[in-house]
Amino acid sequence: MILPNKNYSNLKDSYLFYNIAQKVKAYSDKNPGKKLYRMGIGDVSLPLCDAVTEALHEAVCDQAKKESFHGYMPECGAPFLRDAIAKHYNKRGVNIASDEVFVSSGASDELGDILDLFDKSSPALVIEPAYPAYVDANVMAGREIVHLASGRENGFLPEPDDSIKADIIYICSPNNPTGAVFGRDKLKKWVDFANKNGAVILFDAAYEAFIEDTELPHSIFELDGARTCAIEICSLSKTAGFTGTRLGYTVIPKELKRDGMSFNEMWVRNRTTKTNGVSYIIQKGGAAVFTDEGQRQIHRNIGIYKNNAKVLMSALDKTGLWYCGGKNAPYIWLKCPDNMDSWTFFDYLLNEIQVVGTPGEGFGACGEGYFRFSTFASPEDTAEAARRLCSLLEK
Ligand code: MLT
Repeated sequence: MILPNKNYSNLKDSYLFYNIAQKVKAYSDKNPGKKLYRMGIGDVSLPLCDAVTEALHEAVCDQAKKESFHGYMPECGAPFLRDAIAKHYNKRGVNIASDEVFVSSGASDELGDILDLFDKSSPALVIEPAYPAYVDANVMAGREIVHLASGRENGFLPEPDDSIKADIIYICSPNNPTGAVFGRDKLKKWVDFANKNGAVILFDAAYEAFIEDTELPHSIFELDGARTCAIEICSLSKTAGFTGTRLGYTVIPKELKRDGMSFNEMWVRNRTTKTNGVSYIIQKGGAAVFTDEGQRQIHRNIGIYKNNAKVLMSALDKTGLWYCGGKNAPYIWLKCPDNMDSWTFFDYLLNEIQVVGTPGEGFGACGEGYFRFSTFASPEDTAEAARRLCSLLEK
């Protein structure tokens, strides 16, 4: 008899966002006439920008003609897209070569797959509250997880100390779910810690495009020493509305080696074995994001989400609830009122005002008592949700 991967029995019953979707479905089935205001999962509401859809259309036409048709794409990414991404880093003063960029079908796929590079005995540190897939992917792999709680006292940006024993370190900045962003000095402490201990940082930069404070780093490779200790995982999902289109990229510097093995070379070996790459059409759409016009258009959309954040923050100001985030990240992290636990608050908002958010407990034990709103709903729905929040919670 084949034996199943027993690590799966160590997972929570169901994945956070699946759990929420089930609860919301049950509510809608019972209350078919009620419109919901969805600010739970961070799924975008604006369509792809014109620069991207034009490139996608052209790429479809290319595939219809013998002279421009593409079959298998290079497994690590099309040179035109790897070059465009490397240049995007170079423009920001970060020295990345095209063959250090790997095109992926999105950050969530990559965050799980990348674990193939590391020995099973390497413990993984997860700074919590955290995107739940970090924990689940490591539980599935049977890896030891070190949970590092953060809180209001350290601005949800903990610092390393010598008591931490971990070989893989997850850092998400801007953070999902708290919206906190590591400044250079604090991030440098993690870089130094990783280099000193031979650890590797998996830097999730999926929300970097939302940073507006100019002194904050968008990439860990803006810091000295990061090329010998970090892998950066990025996504066009939130940056350019690709949640349903799927495209991301991963940067693995050539200097990143452990025990004589190069993680860049290992990832080439992995990708050439385990994938046939991302489709030509989608990569053409992705390349359009990195043109000047593409950047202008995606930042116009990001501006709309940022305005949603302002609308929600001003509603929260009126309620007197404590919150953070929303400025350099598309998430607002708030304290539930009256010491309510986060799932009770979830049910309260759903039942009373049909607003859907994400309970903080789903991001780790230290998220209990907190709640997350995503700012990706339409401006109309966001304004109505803000109005309902005020009338329910205003003191
Ligand atoms: C979230 O809501 O945390 C994200 O949208 C989930 C994801 O990116 O997979």
